[in-house]
Formats: sequence, C-alpha cells, structure tokens
Amino acid sequence: MKCRKCGSAAAIELRRHNAAFCAPDFLEFFRNQVREAIRKHRMFVKDERVLVAVSGGKDSLALWDVLIDDGYDTTGLYLDLGIFDYSKESRAKCDAFAAARGVSLIVSSVAEEVGAPVPVIKDVTRRPPCSGCGLSKRYLMNRVALDQGIPVVATGHNLDDEAATLLGSVLHWRTEALPRQSPALASTHPRLARRVKPLYRLSERETAAYAFMRKIDYIVEECPFAKGATSIEHKKILDRMEDASPGAKHNFLFGFLDRARVAFENVEHVTLQECARCGQVTTSTVCAFCKLSDQVKRATR
Ligand code: AMP
Ligand code: FES
Ligand code: ZN
Repeated sequence: MKCRKCGSAAAIELRRHNAAFCAPDFLEFFRNQVREAIRKHRMFVKDERVLVAVSGGKDSLALWDVLIDDGYDTTGLYLDLGIFDYSKESRAKCDAFAAARGVSLIVSSVAEEVGAPVPVIKDVTRRPPCSGCGLSKRYLMNRVALDQGIPVVATGHNLDDEAATLLGSVLHWRTEALPRQSPALASTHPRLARRVKPLYRLSERETAAYAFMRKIDYIVEECPFAKGATSIEHKKILDRMEDASPGAKHNFLFGFLDRARVAFENVEHVTLQECARCGQVTTSTVCAFCKLSDQVKRATR
C-alpha cells in the first residue's frame, strides 16, 4: 500500500477515506481535520484562550498536542475524580505532558469541590457512577473556564464517541438531547463557556495512531466504572457496521449534523437563571451540582 500523498510506503490505511498515508502525511491529514473542524464551526481563534479538558487518555492529549503545535493559547484542565489508581495514573500522564511542553495545567479535585470522590458519590446517590461524574465534570469545566476568564472549553470527543452518543439518543428518542449534540455549542448565557469538540471528524483508531506516531504517553486503561456501560455496547455495534461498510459511522453522524439536527432545534425552551448558591447557570433555583454536593455532605458527615 502506498501513501496517497507522496507514494512512499503507507503506515496506515483509512478505508472510509479510501486512502492510505505514510506517518508524516497522516499527521498532516490529522491536523487538517482538526483545522477544518475549528474553521467550519468557528470554534475559536488564535488570540483567544482555550481551556483543553484533558483526561490523560489518547484523545484529549492528541487534541492538546495539535492545538499547541498550531500556536493556540491553551491551558489544560485535569479533573481529579478520585477513582483510585486510575485517577493517579491519568493525572501523572497529564502532568508529564504539560511539563514536557511547558504549558500550564490546572487541576481541580471532585473530592474537594463536591465533598467526596466519584466512588463515594456513586454509593451516596445510588446512581451509576457516570451520572454524578458527568455532572461534576461539566460543572467544573465551566466554572474553571469562568474563573480563568477563558471563553471556550475544548474536549477530546472523537467521531466514535459522538456516533455512539447519537445512537444512544436515537434508540431512546431523547429528543431533548439531539439539538445539544453538536461539535460546537454556543454560549447561551454570560456565565456559560462555549463547548467545542475539535476531534469530531476523527475516529478513535485515528487518534490512537496520531498519539502513537507522536509518542504521546497516555493512559491506555479505561475508567474502571466504564465496564458494561451502554455506550461501549453502542460502540461495538457501530464498529461492526463500520467493518461491513466503511464510512458508516461518519455517514450516521455527519448526516445527522448536516441534515437532521435542525429538525430537533427549538424543541427546548428553557429559562436560564443563576444558582442561588453558587451563581452558575441552572434551570431551577439551586443547580444540580449544589444539590449533589449537599446530598454528599449530608451522607458523609
Ligand atoms: P469521556 O467522557 O471519558 O470519553 O471523555 C470525553 C472528554 O472529556 C475527554 O476527551 C476529555 O476532553 C474530557 N474529560 C474526560 N475526563 C476528564 C477528566 N478527568 N479531566 C478533564 N477532562 C476530562
Ligand atoms: Fe466518570 Fe468513569 S470517568 S465514572
Ligand atoms: Zn450551584
């Protein structure tokens, strides 16, 4: 197999693009996909600060790597979820990455902010760990961005993540979730940062290849609570479809974004107000994060 660009031996085949690339041309292809995402959705510009949420995994570190190389003004944010060795190791990967590139990394701890780490939140709420975890992550990403005066938060969600989320929403016809599924969410309130996903055009396999070729040291293990999550089952189904028909994931997600998403817009009419306790945006008087933190503090007192 030969590289589509230069004709030398290919290092990776991308069936959905009907193409193969050598390592340097694949890296350039990858960066171009990120640039196209940023340009198409006007995610951010060079003189804006960007808060990159990094988990220590391949996707978010690959994203940070591309943004640093392209000269964006980035700050990393690692949220310490307090999930045993998994959190210790993933933080170490983020610390090492930031130190090697001379960029700053903010660390915020869920145990300090909520009153207990994710495993305790899971027991207190008797809900799946990902529910308190996801809520805390979204809240803290926004709050750190506001505190730092950074207008936009970038996450490492890739094509596989987005297609699996879409499949989950469609299987349950979560029509309220569909309009919110987008590579770029605008700020709808002065206290809400924009949220963007510059890797949405790139598959998990491609971000893994990028991280490998760039020698990025990332945490390979998944969160120990991820086992059995429905999103993983949805990813497996989509992988089988992709095997049988390369481009299936891309067509599913991009077809939705380009043609179907608009049909679900304006379904939501919510009034946003500021939480009486913490001042962050909420649809009720006290936000879900403050309620969670009260519940945790009561139970662990
Ligand atoms: P996940 O939901 O674990 O697939 O993560 C999706 C994205 O959320 C990652 O690519 C990161 O950008 C961000 N993220 C996940 N976990 C963390 C964390 N502990 N700290 C900061 N950002 C995170
Ligand atoms: Fe949140 Fe695993 S990363 S529960
Ligand atoms: Zn609040």
